[in-house]
Amino acid sequence: MNDRLSATALAVDGARLWQSLMDLARIGATDKGGVARLALTDLDGQARDLFAQWCRAEGCTIRVDGIGNIFARRPGARDDLPAIATGSHIDTQPTGGKFDGNYGVMAGLEVLRTLNRHGVRTEAPIEVCVWTNEEGSRFVPVMMGSGVYCDDFTLDYALSRADHDGVSVREALAAIGYAGPAPASVAAGAPRFGAYFEAHIEQGPVLEDAGIVIGAVTGALGQRWYDVTVSGMEAHAGPTPMHLRKDALFAATHLMQKVVDIALAHQPNGRGTVGCVHVHPNSRNVIPGRVEFTVDFRHGDDAGLLAMDAALRQAAAELQRDFPVGVALEQVVYFEPVAFDPLLVDAIRLGARRSGNACLDIVSGAGHDAVYVARTAPTAMIFVPCKDGISHNEIEDADPAHLEAGANVLLHAMLERAGV
Ligand code: GLV
Ligand code: MN
Ligand code: MN
Ligand code: MN
Repeated sequence: MNDRLSATALAVDGARLWQSLMDLARIGATDKGGVARLALTDLDGQARDLFAQWCRAEGCTIRVDGIGNIFARRPGARDDLPAIATGSHIDTQPTGGKFDGNYGVMAGLEVLRTLNRHGVRTEAPIEVCVWTNEEGSRFVPVMMGSGVYCDDFTLDYALSRADHDGVSVREALAAIGYAGPAPASVAAGAPRFGAYFEAHIEQGPVLEDAGIVIGAVTGALGQRWYDVTVSGMEAHAGPTPMHLRKDALFAATHLMQKVVDIALAHQPNGRGTVGCVHVHPNSRNVIPGRVEFTVDFRHGDDAGLLAMDAALRQAAAELQRDFPVGVALEQVVYFEPVAFDPLLVDAIRLGARRSGNACLDIVSGAGHDAVYVARTAPTAMIFVPCKDGISHNEIEDADPAHLEAGANVLLHAMLERAGV
């Protein structure tokens, strides 16, 4: 059935897609209905094995690169053409949901299965990618696998990153058997794609609020992340008078407040979050001697993001001036706002219209592997709504019909690029 007419009538199997998502979500399932499957843990290894097994059953070959990115490849009639690729990540936040990332990978698998069930031969090969450590929760930087792929930072740098217990990415990859032999970066010889599409839940409320099922993602906010350490002096909570303290937490809360103030001063696009705080020694009757916390800044244009950076540095300097503490600020992530490929965004709009779905242009507030892949190949993303706009939360949910619709748009966008 490899004629153009029948190919345009192809549709994914929504029930099968849903079942794959539910089967994958069993690995690391939490009591509240979410998933805790941090990058490069044994659970991540099990989920990777299941993905590879499913893809091998579809006749795909599996390639694993040096940072553990997985590429399942379905050959094309002209196998020398650059692959038309899709994918996302299957690591989750500690209190993550079933859909963030997992949807993009399972939608890619569903494309493979649909092509196979209908005997469709594409001209270009199709690849489905699982990118390593997209979440950046256990290991920083975030979007690690795709960051190495596009040479934003080196493989050695990524492998040397350690989690809070001192376990390195290199050790964690070896432990789960995903330190692969393939070149990890385009500079080292990893193949570039002919096009890359990523399907994802929106992770915000805009589509749901508008009652629209397909988001054509035109770009993504830029991000700067920091590690901040405020140092004071541990001392006894009783004998030390208030005016003679070097209370690191009291000082740190002022800087945390500034993070929010800075974001509020950069509306409508600025975002500022303190998501992680460690207080030392974290004992009731000890004045905190050291506080480590994270800052996550986002903005739709680079100048805005830079202004937020300057404001944070100034606030840190003022804190040292006004409080008896030291402040160390280290930027650990930076990527500029990205605009996706206009032709591919158009293909998504067209795909939505053809499948009878309204479509809304939208900018992603979240980071995605597509942000990095876009530096190496034409790239675009497809968003579908998630319930109440909630993500990075165990209660994350999505409508099976919306997931199916997004996968159909993905299928046809990929077919259009791959050629049939
Ligand atoms: C990735 O999950 C992000 O923080 O945008
Ligand atoms: Mn994600
Ligand atoms: Mn996420
Ligand atoms: Mn993400």
